[in-house]
Amino acid sequence: MTAYVSVVFVGAVVMLTLLWILLIYLPGKGDKVTQGEPNGCQSAAVGSRLLHSVYQFFPRSLSPSLPGPLSLPLLGNMLELAHDHLPSHLTSLARRYGNIYRLKCGNTTMVVLNSGDIIREALVKKWSDFAGRPHSYTGDVVSGGGRSISLGDYSEEWRAHRRLAHNALQRCSQKSLHWVIQKQALHLRQVLLDYNGRAADLSEDFTVAASNIITTLAFGKEYEKSSAELQRLHGCLNEIVSLWGSPWISALDCFPLLRKLPNPPFSRLLKEVARRDDIIRTHLDEYKMQAPSKTSEEDIAITSALLNGLGKPQDTTQGVVLTDTHVHMATVDLLIGGTETTAAWLSWTVAFLLHRPEVQYRVYDELCSVLDGRYPQYSDRHRLPVLCAVISEVLRLRPVAPLAVPHRAIRDSSIAGYFIPKNTVIIPNLFGAHHDPAVWTDPYSFKPERFLEGGGLNACSPAFRRGRSAVFGGGRGQNGIVSVHRLLVARFPVRTC
Ligand code: HEM
Repeated sequence: MTAYVSVVFVGAVVMLTLLWILLIYLPGKGDKVTQGEPNGCQSAAVGSRLLHSVYQFFPRSLSPSLPGPLSLPLLGNMLELAHDHLPSHLTSLARRYGNIYRLKCGNTTMVVLNSGDIIREALVKKWSDFAGRPHSYTGDVVSGGGRSISLGDYSEEWRAHRRLAHNALQRCSQKSLHWVIQKQALHLRQVLLDYNGRAADLSEDFTVAASNIITTLAFGKEYEKSSAELQRLHGCLNEIVSLWGSPWISALDCFPLLRKLPNPPFSRLLKEVARRDDIIRTHLDEYKMQAPSKTSEEDIAITSALLNGLGKPQDTTQGVVLTDTHVHMATVDLLIGGTETTAAWLSWTVAFLLHRPEVQYRVYDELCSVLDGRYPQYSDRHRLPVLCAVISEVLRLRPVAPLAVPHRAIRDSSIAGYFIPKNTVIIPNLFGAHHDPAVWTDPYSFKPERFLEGGGLNACSPAFRRGRSAVFGGGRGQNGIVSVHRLLVARFPVRTC
């Protein structure tokens, strides 16, 4: 018996060491590639980082008939997840195994969804079966113990939290969204004019503009590009995203024993999270001190709407109480979710238009003839089909969150006829759905005209319906649409059908 125990012990130690080495070495290859990429690729990295951080969950087996690559003993399909550009590798696996397949990592099973129809079935039609998020030790560290909207699991508390944020956004977007965006857009225009035709990297200008929209909405503050405070805030948020995905940190989710050992990257992550929390806390405290001196007309900030929502009985069966921590984490969600996404999309748009000057001229002509020199209103979108087609095509070709955010089955269910047990992790491969050759002709080419039928934008055209619900994932709500996007982003025609 003793001999048996020591053989098992030695075997376990050897396997653990091997897995540790693999985990450190393999995802590191992917990190190298993303480091040098433009801003626009940062969200791709976030997708793969999120994926790395979830592959240790839920040791469940699925229906044996669900296809997937051969799984090695203990390692499962971890090697598949070590590829440099994970979204395109998962897409190439879909060409071999079909639009729904499973991957095993260690004792974790994940299901990857690769077509618009299948993603819609899971995240829109059956949204309530797949509304969960995977739990993880390090995810809890970055999300205030799972109290963020983006990483929090589906629960009464999460629903009350999201409702609070939704109502606050609704109030602020009615009052001021248009003016806040207009001010930043005009400022950005001036910044671009000031380059005077010189070659320039615009990604930082896009980040500043997108960030200023969010910080003005959140706590009524905007920053210059050179502001040390802005650099500190973004440096810290970007560092958290990048450290969180590092293999040294993901390994802590897989092997709890490693949490007892010294781990410098993890100590840095803890420090950056503490720094982030300090910055946000200072802003919220400053805001609380100033707020009483503002009239309700001047007070456009989401923070005030969030704070006003606290202390009121939430409309839940379990008497959920929301606290300052929820306001704090909602602010983190808006800053992380609302900055790099928009900035990356702007960078890609410029990159595509540089290579297709004739499309650029068409957009310009359309703006000149429809707007006649005035600034556009949101309601003008129906008269700007070429612009809307460009927006949709860039979001299709370069989805800023190519693997969305992983979901978790909160009960037994099925997708495309396959049984999916409770707790299965679901990966919506939006990149794959957007490049599905069965749906999109010449899927890797930039062709905004695919969204224009009969010379105008057809919001109910097959192209639009196919793209619908994919760009922003499925979200987790009654109608399967992420509510923040419905207010802030999902106003793109891609979602209007
Ligand atoms: C081009 C712009 C954007 C794209 C393509 C995008 C895409 C996405 C995707 C794919 C998800 C995952 C949805 C799912 O769980 O299935 C998501 C979630 C989220 N996004 Fe965005 N996003 C964008 C802009 C924004 C902005 C501007 C904000 C905030 C101001 C934001 C805040 C959030 C939040 C809070 C979540 C989590 C929602 C939840 O868990 O239900 N996003 N986004």
